[in-house]
Amino acid sequence: MIDGVKKDIEKLSGKIIEWRRDFHRHPEIAYEEKRTSSVIRQFLEGLDIPVSACAKTGLRGILEGRPGGKTVALRADIDALPLKEEGDKEYISENPEAAHACGHDGHMAILMGTAEVLSHRKDQFKGNVVFLFQPSEERIPGGAKKMIEEGALKGVDAVFGLHLWQPLPTGFVGIVKGAMMAQPDAFTVTVRGKGGHGSMPHTTVDPILVASHLVVNIQSIVSRNVDPLKPVVVSFGTVKGGTIYNIIPGEVSLTGTVRTFDSSIQSLAEKRLKEIVEETCKTFGATAEFEYEKGYPSLINPEGMTDFVLEVTRNTLGEDRIQEIDPVMGGEDFAYFLQKVPGAFLFFGMGDGMEFPHHHPAFDLDEKALPRATLLMTSLALEFLAAKE
Ligand code: NI
Repeated sequence: MIDGVKKDIEKLSGKIIEWRRDFHRHPEIAYEEKRTSSVIRQFLEGLDIPVSACAKTGLRGILEGRPGGKTVALRADIDALPLKEEGDKEYISENPEAAHACGHDGHMAILMGTAEVLSHRKDQFKGNVVFLFQPSEERIPGGAKKMIEEGALKGVDAVFGLHLWQPLPTGFVGIVKGAMMAQPDAFTVTVRGKGGHGSMPHTTVDPILVASHLVVNIQSIVSRNVDPLKPVVVSFGTVKGGTIYNIIPGEVSLTGTVRTFDSSIQSLAEKRLKEIVEETCKTFGATAEFEYEKGYPSLINPEGMTDFVLEVTRNTLGEDRIQEIDPVMGGEDFAYFLQKVPGAFLFFGMGDGMEFPHHHPAFDLDEKALPRATLLMTSLALEFLAAKE
């Protein structure tokens, strides 16, 4: 059947790229994916795939093949980022407040292509394919958990997902056995001082100075508190305070992220953050509020399923299409699906000629990757359903 599938996808490749560009023009952020969701719903219903809403703007479609057999789920995340897109691509975002700067537009197009190909061949396989279009991957607590709570994995024997990946050359697959992606936590610090005139700093408690010391002091968590052989990242994402050049503000707020694989390192980083925030503020006579929010669990690919993905990749894309990669400090709420059922998550290369990294305002992807990724997703589903256990 695989040769037929290859031909189907070749014929469909223009449409897959069109779908991706349409989503790219109309990005919507976490839990606001209304247009996105309705486009996908209409598409799936047009293929006679029954669809139900799942996790607000998410969707769960189920394609029934011949009776009996197993059920495999495939997942695409559907949200964009709150970012103004830059550049001059013809399909540039029409929404000045959002952009598909992570590639989720491509994930949707790949899964739609997979659904179309499989729907025309549903009498040729035994079992069911569940299509999970998941909202809010980018924003903690994420849509995956909510989808699971609402029954997305009911009756599912295995789940697969991918992320288009700019660091990998187009058409190459990268996957890590075991821990592949980190636990992404978020923290917020509000430094409260005493505002006043910029010309009379001695009458104020300057929260800008305190915040500056904080940013520097916190660097010592990674360099002096955590074992150098254990991966950890502490980064600030925003520093906000003040209105004009000659006023010392009363308050500065900072946000940041902590990335770890190991829960003991995660606890250590949280504890040290809290201590450094409190002690630094005390030194300068300021006070602080500190909040720490634990994000997704670490994404762990089980060994057997990782081998399965590698084997299907070799058989469909070619022996040489696998690139060895290291785990990454990025987070991914697909981790929740893997806590519930067997499966695997992989990176699919689309980096040829692409200079901007994920989450950059001028991010783009090599669209030649899309049909190839569609072939891999389709094959993962068919091979899993065909495999004897
Ligand atoms: Ni992403």
